[in-house]
Amino acid sequence: MSMIDQSIIINKTKVKNRILMPPLVCFNWGDEDGFETYNRGEHYGKRAKGGTGLIVLEATAISKEGRLCDTELGLWKEEHVPQFQRIAKSCHDEDAVVIVQLVHAGMKSVGDTVLSSSAVEVGDKKCLEMTLDDIEKVKNDFVAAAVRAKKAGLDGVEIHGAHGYLLSQFTSKEVNQRTDLYGGSLENRLRLPIEIIEAVRLATGDDFIIVYRFGVNDPTMEEDIYFAKKLEALGVDLLNVSAGIGSNDIIVPKDYPFSFVTYMGTELHKAVNIPVACVFGIKEPKQAEYLLENHMTDMVAVGRALLADPEWTNKAIRGEAVDVCYHCKPRCKYSVDGRTCPWY
Ligand SMILES: Cc1cc2nc3c(=O)[nH]c(=O)nc-3n(C[C@H](O)[C@H](O)[C@H](O)COP(=O)(O)O)c2cc1C
Repeated sequence: MSMIDQSIIINKTKVKNRILMPPLVCFNWGDEDGFETYNRGEHYGKRAKGGTGLIVLEATAISKEGRLCDTELGLWKEEHVPQFQRIAKSCHDEDAVVIVQLVHAGMKSVGDTVLSSSAVEVGDKKCLEMTLDDIEKVKNDFVAAAVRAKKAGLDGVEIHGAHGYLLSQFTSKEVNQRTDLYGGSLENRLRLPIEIIEAVRLATGDDFIIVYRFGVNDPTMEEDIYFAKKLEALGVDLLNVSAGIGSNDIIVPKDYPFSFVTYMGTELHKAVNIPVACVFGIKEPKQAEYLLENHMTDMVAVGRALLADPEWTNKAIRGEAVDVCYHCKPRCKYSVDGRTCPWY
């Protein structure tokens, strides 16, 4: 039996296999008010029908001012709930577990004036240090969005702590220059994500899945392991491991057959007892099988390959060839509009 086809329990929910679709923004498929303009029920429903066990819906803004692009989906008001109800149904109808990624982009937000942990230089934008009131608002916005996700019938949320967005900007020593309770020591830099997770758990209950998108080397590998253990103790249900701000200086063993991002995921997997998902460049089922057979991870996140072939998981389980993602250069066509993907 394929290792991919083994079920796994996340929190109290059974996920039928080990393939996770990581969040992938559908750029240009929305308006400026957080509403979709192009049918995501069909987009995600196809990947669910194709056998994907756990789908993490794309980065979704917790507030209008924290959007990472001007066509990003939103969950900052009640009117956004029905679109997620439709997406949740399209995935549940095909027996997939589905959660949504929640994000505040911090200094990478849309707009001329943006907020971050500290007042750092960001091109021609004005970046201001968040006040304690701003921080309180961010916490409340994460909680309110998570409660709406639950109302929409989603099985959980993923808190975006990677890729240099707001929570990375707090955990990173490079960006965070604060001298109050949210800056300085490691404990202080981890405070905001920890408080958000605690508040989301309290508001959504014990059975709601909480995933953390973990940005590796943010600040160092040793500190990552410390943070990962903290998240485990907090009751986070799965670490979905990806890149952080300071990811460039990770030394990967010469014979390691995957990228540094995957490597860090497999290292964190050794350090914690909660499920971990590893990502990056997994195109072929045999790569996923290798990671699972060697107990290097609990779940394999398959991103662009699932955009190329919605049937990837079913084909992998049946031992059939998949349509292989071309990894378009200079960047994935979905970074502009997925309708231009050669496999679309
Ligand atoms: C078009 C595109 C959109 C993405 N959107 C998100 C996102 O919303 N949130 C996130 O955490 N990562 C995002 N990512 C990163 C992916 O989740 C994933 O980590 C990355 O594509 C590497 O996995 P892969 O090699 O299997 O594609 C995005 C990547 C691409 C190519």
